[in-house]
Amino acid sequence: MERTFREQLFFLLLCLSVLKGDSRYIENNEIAKDELYSIFNPDPKRDSADVLMYRRPLRCLDMVSVEGQFTFTAESPQLSCAAFFMAEPNEVISVDYDQADIDCSGGDFITVFDGWVMKGEKFPSTQDHPLPLHERYVDFCDSGSVRRSVRSSQNVAMIFFRVHSAGSSFTVTVRKHINPFPCNVISQSPEGTYTMASPQQHRNCSFSIIYPVAIDISEFSLGRHNLPKRALPGCAETGDYVQLLGGNGIDTSKLLPIADLCISFSGPTHMKIACDNTVVRMVSSGRFVSRVSFSYRLLDSQELQTIKLNNVEDFCFNN
Ligand SMILES: *[C@@H]1O[C@H](CO)[C@@H](O)[C@H](O)[C@H]1NC(C)=O
Repeated sequence: MERTFREQLFFLLLCLSVLKGDSRYIENNEIAKDELYSIFNPDPKRDSADVLMYRRPLRCLDMVSVEGQFTFTAESPQLSCAAFFMAEPNEVISVDYDQADIDCSGGDFITVFDGWVMKGEKFPSTQDHPLPLHERYVDFCDSGSVRRSVRSSQNVAMIFFRVHSAGSSFTVTVRKHINPFPCNVISQSPEGTYTMASPQQHRNCSFSIIYPVAIDISEFSLGRHNLPKRALPGCAETGDYVQLLGGNGIDTSKLLPIADLCISFSGPTHMKIACDNTVVRMVSSGRFVSRVSFSYRLLDSQELQTIKLNNVEDFCFNN
């Protein structure tokens, strides 16, 4: 193909993507010449989805919620970097190492973590994650040639990395995949609606909203009929229940209980929770199909102020 024709075709592709509303594919996107040529001389292994893949540099501290190819290049030693990846609740994330020019023997590393770690706390908590903790870390230097692709168990994942010398670089490709049975989720936004269902699995699932929110539980059923109307002394004895938790970290096992729901009910339950993290956690014995639906929205500053003044109602301001 002649070069000018290539360029015209490429321009056309760009226009098409703009028309489709995919302008994010072009934003901040420095398209190098060789990338441009690789589009028109495709390697047979590349699939067509790669043609318009979003590309941008990765920062030492970064948040990524789009699919694409991300390249980190060190301009100076970077000893403590982290990139947080996030997808829709019903998606999981895969991270592929495309290229890495780092000095493993010199102490450089790139590690994918199946979940998020923030301020030393993990999501999902070790209790609620299907894998033992050590299997949630996949280090490039230990496994580089063996596992080039890592897939998360929920809609969040991250990488930690350290590089000592300027010029070191690596490239990862982040993709999203549909997860038909989401369990643990961090909400992408401070408002929305969600239905959690446990398809008869002995497993606990958490939906975490990392904002202070007003939450409405609109539908709730534990799929059992002969439950006493008021299950005393606690829901825990029943084996199947929904907890509302709050606190200021992301580890659900360290949050404080706000309410336990263990009788089937149909009626709105409205609560304002001024915590950094609000969690709806479903504890399931696996004997029943349980579901809970809720909607949530961000608390405004006036609501936060009211809760703060009336702090008997709320413990998040006290610790
Ligand atoms: C689910 O959570 C409950 C209460 O926190 C716990 O007793 C139980 O062992 C957990 N089940 C599983 C499968 O982790």
